Amino acid sequence: MALRFEPIRPEFGARVSGVTLNLGISDPAFSEFRRALDEYSVLVFPDQPMSDSQQIDFSRLWGPLEPTKGVNPASGTFFARQSNLDIATGTIISTSDRRMDYQRGNYQWHADSTFKRIPSLCSILTAREVPSEGGNTEFVSTRAAYEAKTEDERRELDSLTVEHDFSVSRGRVGFKFSPEEAAHYPPVWHPLVQTNPVTGRRSLLIGAHAAAIVDWPAEKGAALLAHLLDRATRPELVYSHRWQVGDVVIWDNRSVLHRATAYDTVNRRRLMQRTTISNPTVLETPAYRQIETRRLSIVAS
Ligand code: SIN
Repeated sequence: MALRFEPIRPEFGARVSGVTLNLGISDPAFSEFRRALDEYSVLVFPDQPMSDSQQIDFSRLWGPLEPTKGVNPASGTFFARQSNLDIATGTIISTSDRRMDYQRGNYQWHADSTFKRIPSLCSILTAREVPSEGGNTEFVSTRAAYEAKTEDERRELDSLTVEHDFSVSRGRVGFKFSPEEAAHYPPVWHPLVQTNPVTGRRSLLIGAHAAAIVDWPAEKGAALLAHLLDRATRPELVYSHRWQVGDVVIWDNRSVLHRATAYDTVNRRRLMQRTTISNPTVLETPAYRQIETRRLSIVAS
């Protein structure tokens, strides 16, 4: 069967057919996936069940995997587990448990790992158990959000640096890190505008972890970030993925935001396994080098 990409929305997203992921991917097929991620930002592969080890093998094709550290229950592995099920017993976790407060952080629009110094290229999420209602994953394009700006607006955005802070984003849903946990996540800086090195197209690195604009007064920076997020996430711009067990979805963390939607966490089971692919080479780009030089000069002064 021929590999086929069927666009989901005009700005982003494609459904992929004509491949069986867990039978192994040929080099030409993978090149097509890689090109498609740059073009579509979100790739949906319906009905492609994978074991953990098959997911790891598939994920490694995309680049270095981020080890999960800190509070996620799968800490110490290459998975970020998104679930209301206890990792050891498989039973439903009480809603008052701190682990569920942590999970609710993913109901906010965000891009994965922007609170880390090395940002992510993409994430791969596989559906293992899904609730009969809710628990969708929704996406919007921050490339479309950037491209909708006027030239003057883009010029200003191009010059800005954003501080991303995991304690701030989890704090927005009432989750507090202990001082030891918070020490894993010092605030980090990224260019607000990201440039795809293959297509040259630009996008905004915003979302829940974006806490401040560097060198701007806190209120002014927060207002700009809230405005950009609001414009990017208007309901008519959203693709909402209704999961079936066995679906695999890959998204580009440079050019889309995503969020999980609520579901009945008391009576329904949801287990999603995410692998996150890191993007260390971006640190060698002039935009990141400039930011690092600036940061080091502040540390030294
Ligand atoms: C995530 O935020 O990375 C996972 C989204 C989801 O569980 O739907």
